[in-house]
This record gives sequence, structure tokens and C-alpha cells, in this order.
Amino acid sequence: MINLKHLLLLLFVISFLGSCNLKKMQEVMEPSIVPQPNELERLEGSFEINSKTTFVVDQNDDLKTAVSFINKRFDLAAGFELPVVHEKPAENFINVELDSELNIGDEAYLLTVATDHVNLKAKTARGAFYGLTTILQLLPPEIESKAEVSNIQWIMPCVEIEDDPRFVWRGMHLDVCRHFVDVEFIKKQMDVMALFKMNTFHWHLTEDQGWRIEIKKYPKLTSLGSKRIEGDGTEYGGFYTQEEIKEVVAYAKERFINVVPEIELPGHSLAALVGYPEISCTGGPFKVRNVWGVEADVYCAGKEETFEFLENVINEVIPLFPYEYFHIGGDECPKDRWKECADCQKRIRKEGLKDEHELQSYFIKRIERVLLAHGKKMIGWDEILEGGLAPSATVMSWRGEAGGIEAARQGHDVVMTPGNWVYLDHFQGSYKVEPVAIGGYTTLEESYGYDPVPSELEDSKKKHILGTQGNVWSEYMYTPDLFEYRIYPRIIALAEVGWTEKSNKDYNDFLARMDQQFVRLDGHHINYHIPMPEGPVNNVVFTDQATLEFTSTRPVKMVYTLDGTKPNENSEVYSTALSFSENATVKIRSISPSGRLSRVRTINVEQQVPIASVDVEAKGKGLFAKYAKGSFVTVKDIQKVDTWEEFAFTEEKYKELHDYKKPSAFIFTGYMDIKEDGIYELQTNVDQFFIGDKLIINNDGEVKRFSRNNITAILEKGKHPVKIIYLNSVFGGWPQAWNGPTISLKKQGEERFETLKPEAFSH
Ligand code: ACM
Ligand code: ZN
Repeated sequence: MINLKHLLLLLFVISFLGSCNLKKMQEVMEPSIVPQPNELERLEGSFEINSKTTFVVDQNDDLKTAVSFINKRFDLAAGFELPVVHEKPAENFINVELDSELNIGDEAYLLTVATDHVNLKAKTARGAFYGLTTILQLLPPEIESKAEVSNIQWIMPCVEIEDDPRFVWRGMHLDVCRHFVDVEFIKKQMDVMALFKMNTFHWHLTEDQGWRIEIKKYPKLTSLGSKRIEGDGTEYGGFYTQEEIKEVVAYAKERFINVVPEIELPGHSLAALVGYPEISCTGGPFKVRNVWGVEADVYCAGKEETFEFLENVINEVIPLFPYEYFHIGGDECPKDRWKECADCQKRIRKEGLKDEHELQSYFIKRIERVLLAHGKKMIGWDEILEGGLAPSATVMSWRGEAGGIEAARQGHDVVMTPGNWVYLDHFQGSYKVEPVAIGGYTTLEESYGYDPVPSELEDSKKKHILGTQGNVWSEYMYTPDLFEYRIYPRIIALAEVGWTEKSNKDYNDFLARMDQQFVRLDGHHINYHIPMPEGPVNNVVFTDQATLEFTSTRPVKMVYTLDGTKPNENSEVYSTALSFSENATVKIRSISPSGRLSRVRTINVEQQVPIASVDVEAKGKGLFAKYAKGSFVTVKDIQKVDTWEEFAFTEEKYKELHDYKKPSAFIFTGYMDIKEDGIYELQTNVDQFFIGDKLIINNDGEVKRFSRNNITAILEKGKHPVKIIYLNSVFGGWPQAWNGPTISLKKQGEERFETLKPEAFSH
């Protein structure tokens, strides 16, 4: 007979066995390491780290720092730290050993994970640190969680790894001038950089749009130069005190990351000239630039005061940054002012220079001497080749690879950062569904496929290629989330480009290994990009039937609803094109491999009869304009206009009025001539576009650099009454006047948009 007591006991035993079984059943993960180690052999079995496991570590401060970085992860995610001891126990230990006699590279490591212990050897603490990050990556990705994770065993597969990076420069650049980020944000990125064995942080600290580093000798650099008045009248600013800089550099050191400061010269220097106009060519006055692009006012190359100023700035910056490299910018320096400046021209004559390009070279070479006196290596963008490269310069090639190739042939070291592969400000999906970006298009696959050593470079010169980095220009990174959205996951592809030998790289294998890495990024609360459902615009019209086919820049699961609710992980999975013969609302989003949901796209599918054209006789060519001077940020602001000036809009009027420095509003009315019946996709960068009385595209309150609110409409051949509201203003640093108002269309099925010419309009 089984009584209640027995039954309870039995249940207890069953459940106990069950939990044991559950524990035992946690599968050993196969190695899924990014960047891919250069030699890896999977051995039988696994090793479990538990609260009894110890770190056996040499008496070396850097090594202790490296171990404590890893121990922090255990503390947070596992709820225990591994005791650090100096004597090897019999088993269950991770031995970390430095041996300066080892015949391996400075950043290399040798790692053996056996069933009862782990052995890690390196020549330097840095090498050991990379071995430790490999240990983290052999563990379940939840090890990156900031909160304790229960029900996980910290098991690693047994492996034998001999690893050594391909390049010494594996970097990320960060422009904190166009948009500013705080110290905590930078530290967060460094945690992730370290996890992926990146070793260089290039900190772009000065710009036309803001000076972001405290210089005690020149307080106006930050009191005036760190602030700008945006197009909407608000103040934007921020800078780092020298104490904060030291804090970041110390944090980087604990993660074996070298920090390279960039103090831009001779161009991109307007923010400095605001407080110190005497070192410009014209004497000013100046305002911190509030639009993107390149400023014509630069440091005067003729005045001695300029060099005195820069030497003093450099003298203050150098002690903050122990790393040997110092970036001096050197890119995009317009020569307009130098051509007109008596001092600059005098310098050209006195120094026997040929032209302003040689004057730029003179400028850079003088700065090089200052840096060399401090024992620093100068690095600059590839324009420093202009007029002759400074003797000791390292070149950062960004305008393609040509500058880098030329510099390497001249025997200079080079960091390859060509836009097409490593500019992380580029779009990584269709501009129609992505947040506004500067332009360009670089997918994860393209970044991954980059080879920093150009095939045309002679073998003997290849040693000059130090490596590569992701460049993060922040014009269109309005929030910290948007920085991360652009940086990740492309920077991780570049981490592998920097570390892994070409022969060990494989994109599909990388993508598979990224599944786990997304969980790690989730642990760090990184807002990485998830490929969006692309294809249809947000408003799809049809006469008989509409078919919506979604694509994405790389394979990703998409889920959708048709009932107006937000899709979630349990919603219908998109697998094949959706067809509609009635009105519908499709809500669709993507899901990352770790289960994170992308933004939602809402697509209205609407049966329509063609919009009829009107039978009118036009009085004149082009549109009719109502015009008012003033700063109008959003459409509601035009309510404050008392009187509008009215005229037929002509080329001449366009040239006269259309200047971002003369803000204004236009309301255009008239007719748009459609050449044939059809379903059209329309796009525009104006603020609002009406056909008849219907507002069909509303870009109000957005940066209108690229049209992101395209629609489709069924239009009959002939004239359609239109109204266009166009604010000639600066919004989010983008002056509308730089592109001017455009309406473009393409017929369904056509490849390219056609921008309507003035002749397509009448009034
Ligand atoms: C650069 O992108 N102007 C270096
Ligand atoms: Zn000058």
C-alpha cells in the first residue's frame, strides 16, 4: 500500500531526479566564437565552471586586471566570482600563465580547455586577456547578462586553440562632435569592443560643429565652442572634462584598448575659431556650425599664433593619452580662405611653396615636429598626402584605398578605412524603412567581406597595412540608441576582419556564430540593427489585387498580423507573398535570432479607383508660390504668417530665395502633369504633399534628407491639382535648401524614379 507520505516522498524523488536530469541535459555548446580563432580543435568532453573553480594567476598587475574583467562577468551573471590563487590545485582551475619566452605574437594566446582544468598561456597580459575573452565566448552567451541567470550551467566545450590576430589595428572611431555621447555610453561600447578583441578607440574630439575636450589654457574652446544653436533654435552641446577623459582612458586600459585622440587641423576647426577668431584668416566673427558638411573657415596657416595655439592645445592633450598615436585629422580642408589671406600667401612665398596644397603639407609637417618632440606618432586622414606626406606620418585611408596604397608604397604605415566597407554611418537597409542616414549603403555582408590588404599592393609593402576600423560619423545619430543601431552588428564583422585570417573567414559561418553574439549584445543592452521587412511602401493601392512580397538584407524571421494588433513572437510567420483583394492593414516586424523584435512596419493596403485628372486650361508654366520669410520648423509654424508674398515660381526666384541662410516657407500650388494612366510610387522631400485636398505624403517633423514616406497612387493621365508645403529650414542639421524641393515618381514595375522637371507643373 502506498500511503500519502510515500507518495510525497516518491514525488520528491522524481522531481529531484528530474532536476538532475535537466541539469545534465544542458547541451554543451559547440564553439561559436567571434572573431573566429585562427586555429581551433574541438576535443572530447566539456569543462564546467562553478563556484569552486579557481583562477591560478601569476603575480602580474595587468594580468590581474584582465582576470578581474572576466570575474566581473561571473559576479553579475553567475552570482559568484572565481577566487584568484597562486598555487595550482589538483583540478577545477583556470591556469593563466605569462611566458615571455613563448614563440608567439604579443597579442596571441594558447588555450586548452580540458575536462578538469583550463590552461591559458600568452606572452603578454594582452594576449592572456584575449584568451580570457575566448573563454567567455566558449561559455553560454548568458554570461554577458547584467543580472544573475539561474538554471544555467557554465559549461565550455573542450578545445585546443592557438590564436593570433591578423592585424594590430582593430578599431572603432567615434565622432562625438556632431552628436555627443556621455562617458557611460563610451564605457559600454568598450565593454563590447573588448569582448570582440578590438584594441583601438579613435576618439574624434573636435569639429566645425563642436569642440568636445576641455583645454584649460583656452577655456573658450568649450565655453563657446562646445555649444551650437540648432536650426530649431535650441542649444545643443556637451564636452568632456580632462578628468572624464582620464576616466575613459583608464577604463579602456583595463580592457586593453588604446585610445587615439583626434584634434582636427587645419580644417574642420570652426568651433575653435568661435572663441579664438584671431587664428583664422578673416578674424571672424564665427558661430559654431549647425549644419552638417564642411566649413570654409579654417585655421590660418600664415599666422604664427595659430601654431602657438595648436602647440599649447597638443601639450595639454598629450598627457591624457598614453598611447603612441595622435590623430591630427587633415581631411577636407577647403583652401578658399588661404587663397584670399595675405598672411597665408606670405607664408607660401616665404617658404617657397607651390600652392595651397603645399601649404597644407607645411602645416601638417610643423605639427608633426611638435608630436615627434613628445615621442608621438602622427596619424591623419589621406588628404595629408596632398603636397607631400610628412616623413613619419601614418595614413588613414578613407577616400577609397588609393591614398592608403600610395602611402604604403612610399613606405608609410596605413590604417585602411574606406567608406564602402567601414563607414558605419551608411544605411544598412533600404532608406525607405531605415531611420534617416547620411547616405551610402553598406550591408553586414559587405563590411564582413572587406580585406584591408588591397590585392594590387606589392607583397613587400603589405606589412605597412596595420589594420582597419569602423568609422562612426554621427551627423544622423540623434540619440545614443541610433549610434548603437548603426554600429552593431557591422562593427563585429569588422572585428573579425581585423582578427581572423582571410582563409578562416566565411560569411555564412559568421552569421551562424552571430546567433549567440546577439544574446551577448542583449546582455549589454545594445540596440543593434535587426534587418527590417523591406519591399512594399507604407501605403499600397490596387484595383483588383495587391501582392506584398517582403525581403530583408539578410535572412531573418518576420512575423505579421492582419487584425491591427502589434505582431509578437507568436504571430503568423511570413513565409510567402501576401495577396489581397480587399482593404487590409498589415503589421510586420522582424525577430533577431535572440528573440528581440524590430520596429513594426504598418502597411495600409487599399483598393482605389484611379484619381481622376482635371480638365483645366493652365495660365502659366511652373507652380504658383506663396512665400514668407522666417524660421519654420514644422508645418504648424506657418500659422503665424500674417502676409504671404505671392508669385509664379521661376528659376530666377528659386536662385534668389533658396538659401538655407535665409529661412522661409513656401506653399506651392498648381497642377502636376501625369503622362499616362498607371499605379505610381511617389516620393518627395517636401514637408507635405497634397493631391487635390488629400494629404498624401507627410514628412512633417522629420529630417527630409531622404524621402521615407513613399506612397502609391493610381493616377489618371492629365493634370492633377497639387499643393506642396515646403519649409526652407535646417532640421536635424540638414538644410532643406541643399537638395531643394523635389517630387519623384515611378510607375509600378519600373526600376528608377524620375524627378519631375519644372515643365511637369503648371498653374
Ligand atoms: C572623413 O570621413 N571626412 C574622414
Ligand atoms: Zn590665413
